[in-house]
Amino acid sequence: MCGIVAYIGKKEAYPILIKGLKRLEYRGYDSAGICLLNSGLNVYKCKGKVADLEAFASSKDISGTVGIGHTRWATHGEPNDVNAHPHYSGNEKLALIHNGIIENYDPLKKELVKRGHIFKSDTDTEVLVHLIEDVQANENLSLAEAVRIALTQVVGAYAIAVMDKSDPNVIIGAKKGSPMVVGIGKNEFFLASDATPIIEYTNEVVYLEDEQIVELRVGQDPIVRSIENEVMTPYIHELEMKLEALEKGGYEHFMLKEIFEQPRSISDSMRGRYHVQSGTVTLGGISDYEQKMANAKRIIIVACGTSWHAGLVGEYLIEDLARIPVEVEYASEFRYRNPIINEDDVVIAISQSGETADTLAALELAKSKGATIIGVCNVVGSSISRITDAGSYTHAGPEIGVASTKAFTSQVTVLLLMALRLAHKKGSIAESRFQRILASLEKIPAQVEEVLQSAELVKYIAGQYKDSRNFLYLGRGYNFPVALEGALKLKEISYIHAEGYPAAEMKHGPIALIDAEMPVVVIAPSKGSYEKVLSNIQEVKARKGKIIAVVTKGDTSAAELADHVIEIPETEEELVPILASVPLQLLSYYIAVMRGCNVDQPRNLAKSVTVE
Ligand code: F6R
Repeated sequence: MCGIVAYIGKKEAYPILIKGLKRLEYRGYDSAGICLLNSGLNVYKCKGKVADLEAFASSKDISGTVGIGHTRWATHGEPNDVNAHPHYSGNEKLALIHNGIIENYDPLKKELVKRGHIFKSDTDTEVLVHLIEDVQANENLSLAEAVRIALTQVVGAYAIAVMDKSDPNVIIGAKKGSPMVVGIGKNEFFLASDATPIIEYTNEVVYLEDEQIVELRVGQDPIVRSIENEVMTPYIHELEMKLEALEKGGYEHFMLKEIFEQPRSISDSMRGRYHVQSGTVTLGGISDYEQKMANAKRIIIVACGTSWHAGLVGEYLIEDLARIPVEVEYASEFRYRNPIINEDDVVIAISQSGETADTLAALELAKSKGATIIGVCNVVGSSISRITDAGSYTHAGPEIGVASTKAFTSQVTVLLLMALRLAHKKGSIAESRFQRILASLEKIPAQVEEVLQSAELVKYIAGQYKDSRNFLYLGRGYNFPVALEGALKLKEISYIHAEGYPAAEMKHGPIALIDAEMPVVVIAPSKGSYEKVLSNIQEVKARKGKIIAVVTKGDTSAAELADHVIEIPETEEELVPILASVPLQLLSYYIAVMRGCNVDQPRNLAKSVTVE
């Protein structure tokens, strides 16, 4: 979490930093700040969003062609003006921004206090800038060298950018465990947590590796050194991101735009990867490893949040089609529970951002035990995509709304293609079923478009239940993860308590909650355990619960029982999660908007969870 951006060049830095921070606000938005080099090193920072920072800075000197900016998601110290970044060193000659956590900040701080340092904030970050100051002063070093030596004493994760009043033509960046991209323009450089603040100025970037330090000086090539002081040759990547993808394009919120983008994002996830006529699926990114995957005694999927829900759908798909045992683990649990991992295991990490700290750490653990590690990531060049042996990008395009929508449907699409590919390789699927699924997959983008046409109906239903205090979501089989995902979407953006349950589990406890005040969303497509889900609906009705049913077009039985019906087109059972999740996204969206919630930036959340 936290977004960082820095600029050094010939242009005015302030507008670049503010625009960049707005792009990065999805990473945290409890306070924001900048430092500009003009009459001196001037830090302006305050609690609140980037817009609050702009208002605060409007009366200040915002000139200067060198600057750093930060948008925060608090870890150490409450969100307030003092704890906002940048932080000065004690002598106010250095200013630093940081994304990550300095785990050993306490002993470092105690040592620095003994040496006379006085701290103003409760943050671990301030300790780091004092440490750099201390090293620089005691050993009379350049900023780059002082940063490098200070970082050898640090345990934890960081992406930092540092400015020095005594050396105004330089910005130093460094990273470990938190992402950092260097943008290389003409006579100018950028640093940022991801490429979104950089894209309109240059498409040439370097993804800094862990424990690398970059020195950016106008008129010179960037110098990248390892923490052991070895000079490295940076590899320059070309960005493929489009600027339009980062803007709302006429929609009120990014979340709504991203929900409506799904026909295209799903097409992009499958483009060039399946061929109905020849009846084949190809996933170029994993082709060297698919034999290993097909032979695996088991596959372990690690992920968090929405990506974990996609992983559950993946489990059902891979087990059902490719007949390989799959376990789905919360990355945060997996990494700390001493799991059994063997060299013939395949571990698949699913992550939109590709930066989630727990997922990354789970993968590192699996890799250290010799497992093959595969990524299903959305962000090209992200940390997870770089440490995995192979992988398939979801190609959903940038997802900016904090609540994940199009990333989920793209993850499920890619997992379906993976399951089909492995099934074909293993010969575990009948050709007729394989062809049927492929033919249905081809229709999915148009069918999602059709589902989106029910937006007004969903909005009406949202209006009926916007004041409810609890919601229950029920589904079976492939649609149990959809129920979990529907409940997560609602709680994270509307702050209504919601639970997802396997429909048949309801009678083992949650049924006690049902009364006339309880809306129950049931995913009841005509495939799979339809009859059984109908019985579950009856059980809810008998207790006066209100039913919102997602049913297959033309359904009459579920429709007769339900208070509200949302239809989705007929498709194969394996594909229902893609279609059924769309109305649930819309339902959460409209309820949250009607409750006056900030849909794109829900409280306490951040999009890229780079702390554990
Ligand atoms: C929910 C949501 C989160 C993320 C989770 C994992 O809408 O967005 O639950 O799914 O933080 O993030 P990634 O996929 O980036 O690893």
